Amino acid sequence: MKVAVFCSFLFTALARLSLAQYHYQGLMNYLENRMIAMEERIALWHEQTNRYNSDLKEFRQQAADLLEKLGKDHDALKMDLEKAGAKVDRVEREMDYIETRNPPRPCVKADDRMVEQEVVTRERKKDVFFEVSVCMDIISRIRAMKILKRMGSPKGVWTKDARTAKVYVFNGTSENTLYEFGSVRELSASSGTSTGRQITLPFFWNGTGHAVYDGYLYYVSDREVLQVIKYDLRNGSVADTAVLPVEDHTPVYTLNPDTLVDLVAEEEGLWALYPSGDTINLAKMDSDTLDIEQMWDTTCPRENAEAAFVVCGTVYVIYNTKPPSRSRVQCVFDVNDMVTSGEAPLVYFPRRYGAHASLKYNPEEQQLYAWDDGYQILYKLALKKKLWALAPPTDP
Ligand SMILES: *[C@@H]1O[C@H](CO)[C@@H](O)[C@H](O)[C@H]1NC(C)=O
Ligand SMILES: *[C@@H]1O[C@H](CO)[C@@H](O)[C@H](O)[C@H]1NC(C)=O
Ligand SMILES: *[C@@H]1O[C@H](CO)[C@@H](O)[C@H](O)[C@H]1NC(C)=O
Repeated sequence: MKVAVFCSFLFTALARLSLAQYHYQGLMNYLENRMIAMEERIALWHEQTNRYNSDLKEFRQQAADLLEKLGKDHDALKMDLEKAGAKVDRVEREMDYIETRNPPRPCVKADDRMVEQEVVTRERKKDVFFEVSVCMDIISRIRAMKILKRMGSPKGVWTKDARTAKVYVFNGTSENTLYEFGSVRELSASSGTSTGRQITLPFFWNGTGHAVYDGYLYYVSDREVLQVIKYDLRNGSVADTAVLPVEDHTPVYTLNPDTLVDLVAEEEGLWALYPSGDTINLAKMDSDTLDIEQMWDTTCPRENAEAAFVVCGTVYVIYNTKPPSRSRVQCVFDVNDMVTSGEAPLVYFPRRYGAHASLKYNPEEQQLYAWDDGYQILYKLALKKKLWALAPPTDP
């Protein structure tokens, strides 16, 4: 009798133990996987610290919940979990450290090349410039302007792929063709679009919000829903499409009623400026998948806005009047909160008769490709450093 009771007790105990082991193994695998995933993400450190932090919080919560479930009698397991917790703490501290050392901003990669060039001229300031972020330019004024050509309709886009150096011309505000030129010189020597390579797209484009980067065209097509289409210019295929979450079909800039969404493509990815109520919203998209990663309300009004461009994670919105007067940058929005409208100077464009249908910034050349009443104009920008970068706040 006693033996039977003992056996049954033993059986139950064994069953419990293996259940605990099962839980333990699963838990440790889970922790290990999360840890590996997190460490990989730190290696790929980017500006999305906020998301990481909330992930971490969630993970810590999960770990705490599991710990509770395991109960008192699994001291060994608990110790392991504490070790795991310490590891999480360490990872978190490392992230804090990186964050304070290197405040998140969107174009660190984009500026590597510029820093290399700056080494020669900025040897003395090296410490400051290398310790803080490398992407910290804000525009200070328009240094020069060049009217290159007059070609096509009053409205249109011309832009240069910062990677391939090819130039693209979109004549008008809705078409299914565009023209490719080998260089700006080739375009200026041409007698129109006839000498360019004509590219016919599977879906028409609307507005002047298109962008070209690294052999890909990102364009806006208004086919019942507003779509972003990523088109491979090398082999003429659609690489991906995505529907934009824009509710009302209103223009992002009221002075350019054909442009509902304005795209900016650069090394860091894809930006989309789109309307939301009375203001302009900004979305950061993954240029591979066209996923939207983050959205901001720039609080810049749409009213009397004409165009906008992005330099180092800062959006500059250009305003004008109707009838056109002098275009000026009158609202800035920095995704890193480092530039305020007060810090950025009021930049006036040279007086012209028309109005800008599009302004496309080329970070390699630090100039704007503008289309103004059928004229193709280049504006060379003078840049300066963000004040914050020159006098970084000391660690708390
Ligand atoms: C631009 O489009 C307009 C109107 O569609 C057309 O009349 C003109 O010939 C085009 N110009 C070029 C250079 O393609
Ligand atoms: C977009 O372009 C197509 C083709 O030209 C046109 O039918 C359509 O009306 C345009 N959409 C808007 C909103 O202008
Ligand atoms: C075009 O090229 C890309 C990569 O360069 C490839 O993934 C895609 O399949 C190609 N599409 C066609 C239609 O050849």
